[in-house]
Amino acid sequence: MTWFDSPDDAAKRLGDTGYLTDAATATTAFLAGALGKPMLVEGPAGVGKTELAKAVAAATGAELVRLQCYEGLDEARALYEWNYRKQLLRIQAQSSAGDQTGFDWEQTHDDIFTDEFLLTRPLLTAIRREDPTVLLIDEVDKTDVEVEGLLLEVLSDFQVTIPELGTVVAVRRPFVVLTSNAARELSEALKRRCLYLHLDYPDAEREKAIVLSRVPEITDRLVDQLVEMIGKLRELDLKKAPSIAESIDWARTLLALDAGHLDPALAHRTLGVVLKHVSDQERAIRELRLARG
Ligand SMILES: Nc1ncnc2c1ncn2[C@@H]1O[C@H](COP(=O)(O)OP(=O)(O)O)[C@@H](O)[C@H]1O
Ligand SMILES: [Mg+2]
Repeated sequence: MTWFDSPDDAAKRLGDTGYLTDAATATTAFLAGALGKPMLVEGPAGVGKTELAKAVAAATGAELVRLQCYEGLDEARALYEWNYRKQLLRIQAQSSAGDQTGFDWEQTHDDIFTDEFLLTRPLLTAIRREDPTVLLIDEVDKTDVEVEGLLLEVLSDFQVTIPELGTVVAVRRPFVVLTSNAARELSEALKRRCLYLHLDYPDAEREKAIVLSRVPEITDRLVDQLVEMIGKLRELDLKKAPSIAESIDWARTLLALDAGHLDPALAHRTLGVVLKHVSDQERAIRELRLARG
C-alpha cells in the first residue's frame, strides 16, 4: 500500500485530521511510508510526537496499535506470552479425562501450544494484522536496553519466531513510529534502521494555526497574545518550558474564563495551566513582570 503520494499529500491529509506539519515532518512521514522504514521522532514533551502517529493512522484509515514503553517492559508484555492459567486448566481437564483412557502428554503438549493459548502483545499484533496498521512504539527511551535489542530484531525483519509455533512473517508491513523524549541515547543500531525526525516547539505562526485548529472558538487577537506570551516564557531559563499541549490548554482556559484579552494579571492568575514548577512560576512573574490580579 502507498501511505502518502508525496510530502505535499502527507501535509494535506495530516492537516485534514487537524495535525499541522512543517516541511520536515511531512517529508519524513511520506518517506517512512514510501521506503517502509520506521520513523524515530525525538523532542521535548508535548510537541506532537505521539499525536503524529495517531494522525498518520487517522489520515490513512489504518488502525493504531500502541506499545507504551516503560521501565521493566519485557518480551512478555511487548511481544507475546503463553496463557499459563488456561494451559494449566487444559492439562488438568485432559489428565482427569485420561484417568479412564490413559493420559497422552504428547497430544496435550501439541494442544496447549497453539494459537488458542497465545496472548499476543502489541508487536506481534501489529505484525500479524492483515489490514493497514500504524505501530506506535511510544517513549522508547523509557525502556531498558534489552528491549531495544528486541525491537531491532522485529524492526529489521518484520518477523517473529515463536519456538513452539514457528516464524510469523508480516504479510503487510506496519507504518512504524517510535517516539523518544531523549531521556537516554538510543543505540546507533536502532537509529540506523530509522528515519530521524526532531520535533521542537513550532514558530509563532504554526503555533497559532495549531491552537486555532484545536480551539477554533478563540478569537484571533487572543491567540496572538497567547502565542506571544508563550514565546516569551520559552525564552526564560525554565525547568520545563510550556509545550504545544500547554498552549492549547491555555487557550481553552481563557475561553472558559470568557477572557477578552490576556493581560499580565490574567496571565499571573492562570499561570498554573502552563508552568508546573513553583520556581518556574516565580521566575516568569519576576522576569515578565506579571502583576498580581
Ligand atoms: N502539529 C500539531 N498539530 C496539531 N496539534 C498538535 C500538533 N503538535 C501537538 N499538538 C497537540 O499537542 C498535544 C500534545 O501532543 P503529544 O503528541 O501528546 O505530545 P508528545 O510530543 O509529548 O507526544 C496534543 O494533544 C496535540 O493535540
Ligand atoms: Mg507522547
